[in-house]
Amino acid sequence: MEENKVWEFSDVQIAEFLAAAVKLVKEAGEMITDAMDKQKNVEIDVKEANVAEGNASAVLTETDMKVEKHIISGLSALYPDHRFIGEESVADGLITSYTSAPTWIIDPIDGTMNFVHSNPLVCTSVGLTINKKLVAGVVHCPVLGLCYTAVLGQGSYCNGKRLSSSDVTQMAKAMVIMELPVGANSEKKGVAMANLSTVMDRAHAVRAPGPAALDITWVGAGAADCFFHFGIHCWDMAAGALIVQEAGGVVLDPSGGEFDLMSRDILVCSSRALADQVLAFLKPYNTDRDLEERLTYL
Ligand code: IPD
Ligand code: CA
Repeated sequence: MEENKVWEFSDVQIAEFLAAAVKLVKEAGEMITDAMDKQKNVEIDVKEANVAEGNASAVLTETDMKVEKHIISGLSALYPDHRFIGEESVADGLITSYTSAPTWIIDPIDGTMNFVHSNPLVCTSVGLTINKKLVAGVVHCPVLGLCYTAVLGQGSYCNGKRLSSSDVTQMAKAMVIMELPVGANSEKKGVAMANLSTVMDRAHAVRAPGPAALDITWVGAGAADCFFHFGIHCWDMAAGALIVQEAGGVVLDPSGGEFDLMSRDILVCSSRALADQVLAFLKPYNTDRDLEERLTYL
């Protein structure tokens, strides 16, 4: 069946796929910075389905949709048999089809909240799965000119420079990034407050810059040592998870199990020793999955 077909590509072909995505993502970056320069980075709608998750998940601009269209039309012109899961094309947040075919998992603007506030921490995140495994990804922050990439088994890079996660193994030495879900329902807020309180007692530093794709990527870049999140989506995690893994970091489900791209939860750390210290205190917040099928990716 087409759905379960095994697709085979060489490393060279996968590198070519990534290069095509990087080109489109950089063009999209110009659309993003242009909108910020011309003050067209305004909120046009609230995503009602996301309101309970907090303000950062619900905000939408015209540029989110323009960028997603640009990337999908560019990649589908090059690769007509590839599939797409794009944040803004997934109606009501529900993924209805996911197969073994090359599938691009796209967040056109991660950090839309930062975008509408003209904060430079805005990125585009594009991950590629083949046979339902992550094989390539790019996280591009256009305002800062940082382009993070990874190909399975080939390492992670930022603007061509090889990345390595930090050597931090102790909570007391760790910079921890987490989400402060402003506007979220009281349960999500309560869980975040409890985790923040423990992190404040134990860590070296805590930050909440957002967007999630960059927060994950910083751990691969050695620019932070830990990030956890309950309730993001596969498009926030796909590229970043591979970047962290390829940089030598640890990517897990925050329950301590294997990372599952469709679970909506993630824990990334510089080392397994640090991850174990975080797992010992982390309070979970339960959400629906992106997809019922349980799939481990790394
Ligand atoms: C949001 C950002 C934010 C995270 C939210 C996400 P979006 O994604 O990644 O940092 O805290 O949970 O929804 O809506 O800007 O793509
Ligand atoms: Ca987005």
